[in-house]
Parts: sequence; structure tokens; C-alpha cells
Amino acid sequence: MATPLLALDSVTKEFGSIRAVDEVTLDIPESEVTAVIGPNGAGKTTLFNLITGRYELTDGQIELRGERIDQLEPQDIVQQGLARSFQITNFFPDLTALENVRLAAQAQRTGLTPGALLQHYDDQSETREAARDVLKRLDLLDIAEEQAGSLAHGQQRHLEIGIALACDPDLLVMDEPTAGMSPDETVETRELVEDLAEDITIVIIEHDMDVVMRVADRLAVIENGSLLTVGPPSVVREDERVQQAYLGGETA
Ligand SMILES: Nc1ncnc2c1ncn2[C@@H]1O[C@H](COP(=O)(O)OP(=O)(O)OP(=O)(O)O)[C@@H](O)[C@H]1O
Ligand SMILES: [Mg+2]
Repeated sequence: MATPLLALDSVTKEFGSIRAVDEVTLDIPESEVTAVIGPNGAGKTTLFNLITGRYELTDGQIELRGERIDQLEPQDIVQQGLARSFQITNFFPDLTALENVRLAAQAQRTGLTPGALLQHYDDQSETREAARDVLKRLDLLDIAEEQAGSLAHGQQRHLEIGIALACDPDLLVMDEPTAGMSPDETVETRELVEDLAEDITIVIIEHDMDVVMRVADRLAVIENGSLLTVGPPSVVREDERVQQAYLGGETA
């Protein structure tokens, strides 16, 4: 079998006496959309924080293209081609949409954090061009010069995806990209994810089951920090344990 793009092996995270992520072993194959679902507090965001280097693992290991990444700093992991968007909106509200994306592109090229780059911030036309391409793909070119903080919620969430895309990832992990969105914005976001999936491997945490069932090639179900099951959506949705743990109950 081909090496998976991302491989989690017995990944565990404890916060004091809480085991938020409990020995999760999961392969993420290239070119697929894997949706991570599970009840509130199941450990999904914590798992993403481990994958992206924000938290140190208590135990286990993570490999990207067969190389360990679980000891790396978040910025170094981004440099390896793994970018993320957050459950909570995360950008510089006083900068324009274009500047936010451009800073991310520049951070990727220089290896500096966007925060460090702001210290010696100067205009660079090459990253401006890359940033415009990203905004175009997100259909945000018309608000390129607007302050990020003044955009509509849906636009802010898409901008945030743009910031991740500016890092030119092979693997994009998205934490609830439709959170807080109107039904129309949710449909737009679903279409965006489908578009991105054509050339980027995606791991997405998503509560909206309509979105999940349409975009996902595989479903991974997390309950109480553990991986309950993983497989094609049509199989997983019929699993009795999954229906009990999640699908039959509240979905948000
Ligand atoms: N930094 C932290 N310190 C202590 N406990 C934490 C921390 N982050 C998460 N937890 C705990 O870990 C568990 C899993 O939380 P997590 O945010 O990963 O769940 P989730 O599946 O993303 O939930 P949701 O669907 O509500 O976003 C919870 O019990 C939470 O309180
Ligand atoms: Mg979460």
C-alpha cells in the first residue's frame, strides 16, 4: 500500500486527568476528503491541535509523507505543506483581506510567523500577486481592499480559508468551516470545499451532516477521544454505534 499522506499512530493527549484524545490511529490517504465527526467535546479540535503542532502529544506519533512531524513547531509544519483553518475566526482584523492573505503567503516563503513579519512589514509585489490569486479562487477579489474585521461573517470564514491556502498546502485541515453560517453561506462553503478537494487533500471537522455526506470520501467518527470507526460515509452512517453516539442525537 502507498504511504498515506498523513499517518496518526496511537496519538494521545491528556490535560491533567482528562484524556481528550485517546490512542487515535488513522491514515489520511492523499487526494481524499476525510470528515471527522463526533459529539461536542469528543476531542476533534484537540486532534487538529496535535496534527498542526499547536499541542505537544502525550503519546504516539504523527507522520507526514512518512516523516515525523510531531516534534515540529506549527510554522515548520506549515512549511511541510500542512495548513489549517480554525473553528474560531483567526486573522488580523485591522488589515485588509488582501494583506491578511499576503502576509500568510510571505510567512510561508520566509518561514517567519505572520506576527514576526508584521514587525518589518513591507510591500512585496510577488506575494501580492499570489494573494490575489487566492482571493480570486475564493470569490473574494471584490473585497480585497476592505478591512478583514468589517467583512460579513461568511466572508471572514472564507478569508480564513484563504489564509490557509496562501501557504500552498498539500493537506488542508479545516475546523468547522460552516460554523455560524447562514444556509446560503453554508452551501457556498460546501461548494468551495468541493472545489478545493480537486487538488488538495482535506481533513474537515464538520457538524452539518448534509455538508459531510456530500463532500466526504471517508468519515472518521470520534467519541470520548477515541476513534469509533472510519470508512465510506454510506457504511459509517449505518453503523449502530455511530447512530447511537452521534447521528441519532443532536448534530450541533
Ligand atoms: N487546552 C485545554 N486544556 C484543558 N482541556 C482541554 C483543552 N482543550 C480541550 N480540552 C478538553 O478536551 C476535550 C475535547 O475538547 P475538543 O475541543 O477537542 O472537542 P471538540 O470535539 O472539538 O468539540 P466541539 O465539537 O464542541 O468543537 C474537552 O473535554 C475539552 O474540555
Ligand atoms: Mg472543536
